[in-house]
Amino acid sequence: MLKIRNGKIWRDTKGNVIHCHGGGFLKQGDFFYWFGENREQGRLVSCYRSLDLVSWEFCNDVVTSATHPELRSANCERPKVLYNEKTQTYVMWLHWENGVDYSAARCGVLISDRIDGSYEYLYSFRPLGHMSRDCTLFKDDDGAAYFISAANHNADLHIYRLSEDYREIAALEMVLWPGESREAPAVFKRGQYYFMVTSGCTGWHPNQVKYAYAESITGEWSPLINIGTPTGYDTQPTYVLPIVGVQQTTYLYVADRWDPSNYHNSRYVFLPFEFASDTALDLQWASELAVDLELGVVETTVNQSNLYRMRANLQYLAVDNFEGVAPVSFSRLNYANENQLWDLEYSNSNSFRIRHYLSGKYLTPRNLSNEPHSEIVLDEHKSHISQEWTVKPTGDGYVSILNSYSKLALTFGSDEEQKLLQMPFAKEGDAACDRQKIILARVYE
Ligand code: DGJ
Repeated sequence: MLKIRNGKIWRDTKGNVIHCHGGGFLKQGDFFYWFGENREQGRLVSCYRSLDLVSWEFCNDVVTSATHPELRSANCERPKVLYNEKTQTYVMWLHWENGVDYSAARCGVLISDRIDGSYEYLYSFRPLGHMSRDCTLFKDDDGAAYFISAANHNADLHIYRLSEDYREIAALEMVLWPGESREAPAVFKRGQYYFMVTSGCTGWHPNQVKYAYAESITGEWSPLINIGTPTGYDTQPTYVLPIVGVQQTTYLYVADRWDPSNYHNSRYVFLPFEFASDTALDLQWASELAVDLELGVVETTVNQSNLYRMRANLQYLAVDNFEGVAPVSFSRLNYANENQLWDLEYSNSNSFRIRHYLSGKYLTPRNLSNEPHSEIVLDEHKSHISQEWTVKPTGDGYVSILNSYSKLALTFGSDEEQKLLQMPFAKEGDAACDRQKIILARVYE
């Protein structure tokens, strides 16, 4: 059986790289149709289809910058499509921006009488006057459809009921988790419960994925519950795809692995949700998936990596030039840059050396007498106890990394220090506190 290979480059049946980000699915007959963002040469939304979720045939660029003058220089994100029985049309909702920045905060609506036809642009607007950014659609068992979008500068998440033809907003039904800044919503229903999976709000950088559940989509929703790792296995949700088989239904978490340094290098990750009870969702990493569509069963394979990235304030610890005794620096996440990879070499269960993957050199404090602003470098020698570190969880997925010898905490440089490519370290909990809140993000491939 062909396998889904998470985080790898995916190509369509003609060998072209698949560009279908922030996407959603619609099943028609035996085909899964996949709609998503495509930022290549004037394209906006592309559609692919597959019988097995592994081989994807390119169908059409269903929305392009030539579709309508309002799309000429627009930025369209997170397109989702539903079929409306009443009008027998396919209706697409997406996040519409002016192509310059994210200030428009509007949704856009398009229709087509073919699933993979060229969609006709109807309009873009702010639903009932509210800002609207990351969004999704959900069609309930009774045919009612909902548009869910991040409102109020992304602080709140709104659930709107759509009109019967799915082309307009009928009502604002819910304002969820006000002030908690959730985005990237994806909704599904399993048994009696509705689930919503969301991410936090950190641009293109991955963060803690959370879910909530409710007995009615317009009823009371549970508080948000963490799922997966603090960076969601380096993903952001976009959709949940039910695989309905004769033996069971598996719910696939469909996510983007955005590359903040190069959008075009962004990848896809599909993971099967696990349920410990009717309302307890779990998400484990899998490198590969074998999906039995007939049975609805997904078998997973895990290739465990022992490499990590370390980040504080969305800055990743990196080494640009590792000649000699090399200074460490910070940069934004870049999956193509192996300079950001670190190996934790445990000497016992608590204590480890931090080894730079590419150079094999060790993270080493220097000028300890200049405490608390001694700098950190890479040293090729494995020597002194000052190269030993321990991790102390500080809550919410963050850790402090403490130097075993000096007891000082690894502290990411401030903006100014960053320019000097230096990394000081300081007493735990001192003024640099935020810069000591580190996420130790394991590499999941
Ligand atoms: C996160 C959103 O989920 C993406 O769709 C995109 O809007 C980026 N933010 C832009 O920073």
